Amino acid sequence: MHNSTQQIDQVVTVGLHERSYPIIIGSQLLTQLTTHFPALPKQLLVISNATVAKLYLPALQQALAAHQLVVHLIGDGEQYKSLQHYTEVMDTLIAQGFNRDCAIIALGGGVVGDLAGFVAATYQRGVSFYQIPTTLLAQVDSSVGGKTAVNHPGGKNLIGAFYQPQAVLIDHQCLHTLSDRDYACGLAEIIKYGIIYDAEFFNWLEQQADQLVARDGAAVSYAIARSCAIKAAIVAADETEQGVRALLNLGHTFGHAIEAHDYHQWRHGEAVAVGIIIASHYMLQQGQLQQLDVERITALVRRCGLPTMAPTLPIERWQGYMQRDKKVKAGQLRLVLPTAIGAAELRVVTDWQAVYQAILAVSHG
Ligand SMILES: NC(=O)c1ccc[n+]([C@@H]2O[C@H](COP(=O)([O-])OP(=O)(O)OC[C@H]3O[C@@H](n4cnc5c(N)ncnc54)[C@H](O)[C@@H]3O)[C@@H](O)[C@H]2O)c1
Ligand SMILES: [Zn+2]
Repeated sequence: MHNSTQQIDQVVTVGLHERSYPIIIGSQLLTQLTTHFPALPKQLLVISNATVAKLYLPALQQALAAHQLVVHLIGDGEQYKSLQHYTEVMDTLIAQGFNRDCAIIALGGGVVGDLAGFVAATYQRGVSFYQIPTTLLAQVDSSVGGKTAVNHPGGKNLIGAFYQPQAVLIDHQCLHTLSDRDYACGLAEIIKYGIIYDAEFFNWLEQQADQLVARDGAAVSYAIARSCAIKAAIVAADETEQGVRALLNLGHTFGHAIEAHDYHQWRHGEAVAVGIIIASHYMLQQGQLQQLDVERITALVRRCGLPTMAPTLPIERWQGYMQRDKKVKAGQLRLVLPTAIGAAELRVVTDWQAVYQAILAVSHG
């Protein structure tokens, strides 16, 4: 079948020696899936949710017509990233007689990807795994780096494994059906990469902000490719987060506190965006980040349709939420802090009052 509009823009390699794999980025790639995933076995389980399946499963099914394809759909939402739904997928695999030569394909956002990855990591001690991320967040963040997990009532992502896929296919055309809010959440992680790692990319984001918000194909494609390349470089240097990988948590300790305070109101990317601004203000107050850089970060966040103000909470509440964060070890706050646009450091911070001053600088009233 010939499809004239299919186009590969870029292939980013995640360099992890014998576990290296390609991230193929482009448009209209789903119909030619078997060309992009040449090693797909006969037996395939596609995990998706009803929302995404309605939009993109038919193209996948058509492309995989020669395979023995089983589809397992979960509901739409974070609550489906659970042990219960993990068990249901396992039931499907076992009932359908899937053997160790099968492959799991994740078609969806980070919820589907994390659950499917953990299934792939553990079914018969590990089977092949392919990712087709369909949200911007999944395309630039959760599908890169091999973290898989399900949630536990005691906390998010408490049960999981590091498990790398065989390949990732990113079709940025899928983003046209994504909500504005979900799209903006992906942009927050993209801005994060510029701040922690790549000043030139941050400049480019400033120049292309309007095109990005408008979901212009060329701009989105480049932003995804650069983000994946940055995350891939960081993951290749530190696969299991002993060091530099922690920088990916810029804005996340504050963001997790905001999410813990009110997860109905706040999406992850929105909370992270505000967290990045708090971290920037902290460094401004320490005299270690320039005013102009804080202004540039805040302006870019705003232009991407993300919030820039934190909820107003007393210091004890912030402290309580932040001490629950995984990054807090033995009561010590370890924060990723930008030292410039394009550079950040992980630091131990003991002065809560100073942290609170930075929070107040971006709070209402
Ligand atoms: N593994 C990692 O390294 C990593 C990193 C960051 C986040 N995560 C995890 O990712 C999850 C969040 O991912 P998310 O933001 O993609 O959320 P999500 O998977 O819930 O997707 C967001 C919404 O978009 C819908 N959707 C997906 N693709 C669509 C499309 N193309 N068009 C229209 N609607 C579409 C989904 O049905 C859902 O309603 C969290 O569970 C988080 O813990 C994991
Ligand atoms: Zn994040």
